[in-house]
Amino acid sequence: MADVDQELQLAKLRVEELRSDINFHDYRYHVLDQPEVSDGEYDELVRELRKLEERYPQLITPDSPTQRVGGEPVAAFGIVEHPVPLLSLGNAFGEEELRAWHKRAAGLAEKERFDLVCEPKIDGLAVALEYREGQFAVGSTRGDGRRGENITQNLLTIKTIPQNLSGRGLPSRFEVRGEVFMTKGGFEKMNEQRAEQGEPLFANPRNSAAGAVRQLDPSITAQRPLDCFIYALGWAEGGTTPTGHLKTLQWLGKLGFQINPHIEKYRTIDEVWKNCQTWVERRDTLDYEIDGVVIKIDDLALQKRLGVVGRDPRWAVAFKFPPTQRTTVLIDIAINVGRTGSINPFAVLEPVNIGGTTVKMATLHNEDDIKRKDVRIGDTVIVQRAGDVIPQVVGPVLSKRTGKEKRFRPPRKCPSCKTSLVRPEGEVMRYCMNPACPAQAFRRMEHFVSRGAMDIDGVGEQLSLTLMQEGLIKDPADLYTLTKGQLLELDRMGEKSAQNVINAIDASRTRPLSRVLFALGIRHVGAETASLLAEHFGSIEALMGASADELAAVSTIGPVVAASVHTYFQEKQNRALIQKLQSGGVRMKTAAPATKDGPLSGQSFVISGTLAAFSRPEAETRIRSLGGSTSSSLTKKTDVLVVGESPGSKLEKAQRYETKILDDEAFMALLRQHGAD
Ligand code: IVH
Repeated sequence: MADVDQELQLAKLRVEELRSDINFHDYRYHVLDQPEVSDGEYDELVRELRKLEERYPQLITPDSPTQRVGGEPVAAFGIVEHPVPLLSLGNAFGEEELRAWHKRAAGLAEKERFDLVCEPKIDGLAVALEYREGQFAVGSTRGDGRRGENITQNLLTIKTIPQNLSGRGLPSRFEVRGEVFMTKGGFEKMNEQRAEQGEPLFANPRNSAAGAVRQLDPSITAQRPLDCFIYALGWAEGGTTPTGHLKTLQWLGKLGFQINPHIEKYRTIDEVWKNCQTWVERRDTLDYEIDGVVIKIDDLALQKRLGVVGRDPRWAVAFKFPPTQRTTVLIDIAINVGRTGSINPFAVLEPVNIGGTTVKMATLHNEDDIKRKDVRIGDTVIVQRAGDVIPQVVGPVLSKRTGKEKRFRPPRKCPSCKTSLVRPEGEVMRYCMNPACPAQAFRRMEHFVSRGAMDIDGVGEQLSLTLMQEGLIKDPADLYTLTKGQLLELDRMGEKSAQNVINAIDASRTRPLSRVLFALGIRHVGAETASLLAEHFGSIEALMGASADELAAVSTIGPVVAASVHTYFQEKQNRALIQKLQSGGVRMKTAAPATKDGPLSGQSFVISGTLAAFSRPEAETRIRSLGGSTSSSLTKKTDVLVVGESPGSKLEKAQRYETKILDDEAFMALLRQHGAD
C-alpha cells in the first residue's frame, strides 16, 4: 500500500511539473511568439501528462492543459457562447497510433468496417459561422471551446465566406465550422510589400492569419489575404440535413461554402494510411499549409454514438506530419553580402534532418533579430523548415545553455571588399556602400538574370560567376555585347549551348519596363513596386527625371521607397548602366503609358472591392491611360469611387463625403466610351 501511495505521490509531482512546463511553453508560443522548445518536444510533454492522467484519473483537474482547448477569449471583441462546444482532435503520430485509433473506434462501434473521410488538416484558425434565415449573422473564434470571441466584422471581409445563402429546405438557423488561413502566395506577397515599406515581417502564414482575424479594426483584416475552408456543420435547427459527413460537406458546398477539393472517402484503414503518406510527400504542392490529415467517421449517427472523451472526439483523429522543427547546434554565424550591399547574417548549423531534408544553414534575418531572439554561437537552437521556404532559426533553447556560448559581433567591414559598413538611421540592416564591391556585383548579376527579373535562361549562378571571373562581363549590360566566340572560349561550352545562351540574352531585350526595373535590384523595389512605377511613369526617362516628391505621390509608394529610387537614379554609374542597357538593345517598353491629357485628366479615382473584369492594378492602368489619377485611400478630394463586390468601409466614407460613386457596370461603360475597356 505504501508503495502505491508513493507511486501516486511521485506521479502527482511529475504531473504538476509537466503542467507548469506546458503552461510556460504555451505562454512563450502564443503570447510572446518565442517558443523555446520544438513542436515535437512540446507534444511529448502533453503526451506524458495525458498518459499519467489516464493512469491516475484522480489527478485530473479542470485547469489541466489536457482539459483546455484553446486560449481564453478576449473580452474586447464581445463573447460568443458556443451552444455546441468546438472540439479539438486527438493526434496520431505515425502508422501505429493511427491503427490503434481505428481499432478502438471499431471496438466501440462493434463493427470492423465503416466509411472514413480523409481531409487535409489546414494550419489556420478555427472559426464558427452562424446563419439565420440564410444570412450570415455571427462569426466567432474557438476561444476555449465553449466561449469564443465575436469576430463577425472581420470575417465579413473574407470573400469566400458567403453572406447570403439561398436554397430549398435551408435550416432556419445553423452553424458551420471551418478554418481561416492565409495562402502561401498571399503571405509571401504581403511580406514582400511589408519589406518594401520597411515594416516588420510576419513569421509564417498561420500566425499572420490568426493575427489578422483578431484585429480590432476590420479594415486591417480586409487588407490581409485571408481565405476559409468549411469542414463541418456545427448544429442546425428547423430543416433537414444529410446523415453522412461527406454528404453534409457536399451540401454545404452547393450552398456556396468553400470546401477543400482534396477530401476523400475510404473503407479501410490501409487506404487511409496510404492517403496520409501521399500527403506527407505532397503537402508542399498546395498553396496553403497543412500540418496533417484529419480522419473522420462518415456516419453521423455513429459519430454521435462514439462521443467525446475529454476534449477529443472518439470518431475523429488527426494524423500529424513528422515535425518540421528540430533542435540542433548553431556552429557559427556567417555573413552573406546581398545585391544592395545588405549584410545578411546566416546560421551555420550542425546538419539536421527536418522532414526529410538535411538542413545545414538557416536565415537569421538581421542583427536586431539575433539580438531580439538572443541567439548565441554555440547555442542549441530550434530550426524550422516550412514547405519550400528557406529554413529559419526560431530561437535558442535556453535550458541547454552552458555559459560558453558567444554573442554575435556584427562585422564593421564588408567581408568581400573590406569597406567600412554603414547602418542608415531607422534601418535594421548594415550596408556595404561600395558600388564596386565584387560580392555585390555578383549578386546583382545573379538577380538580373533570375526568373522574376530578366529571366535569361541558361545564365544562372554558375555561368554568371564564370563570366565575371573570366573578366568577360563586369555589369549586367555587358551581357548584351557578349559574342558567341567569347562564350566558346570557356571550358565545357559547346557550340549549341553558346548559341542557346546568346538566344536567351537576345530574348530578354524585349522584357517590359517593370521587369527591367525589378532586375536593376534597386533597394526596396520588389516586383510589385516595379510594376507600379512602370505603370505610373510609363518610361524609364520619366522615372529617372522624377523628384522624390513626385515618386512619393504614387499611390502605395512610401517616402523610404521614393527616396531609395530617387537616390538610385541620381548616381552617375546607375544612369550610365541604363544608357548602356539601352545601347545594348534593351527596350524597356510599357504596356499602357499614363497620359497627361486625356478624357479623365484632373479626376482622381479610388477603387474599392473586387471588379468583375479587371484586377485593381489593371483597372488603375486604364484610368491612368485616360489621364486620370489613382490612389488607394479615399479623401474629401477624391472625385470618383469605383465600387466592385464587397467594397468595405470606403463606400460609406464616399457617401459621407458625397463623392461620385460608379458601380462596376457604370465604370465599364466609362472605359468603353473612351475605348479603354
Ligand atoms: S475537424 C472534432 N477538420 O484542427 C473535429 N479540423 O486540432 C474538430 N482543422 O480545431 C475539427 N483542418 O481548427 C477538422 N479538415 C479539418 C481541419 C480541422 C484543420 C483544425 C481545427 C481544429 C484543429 C484540431
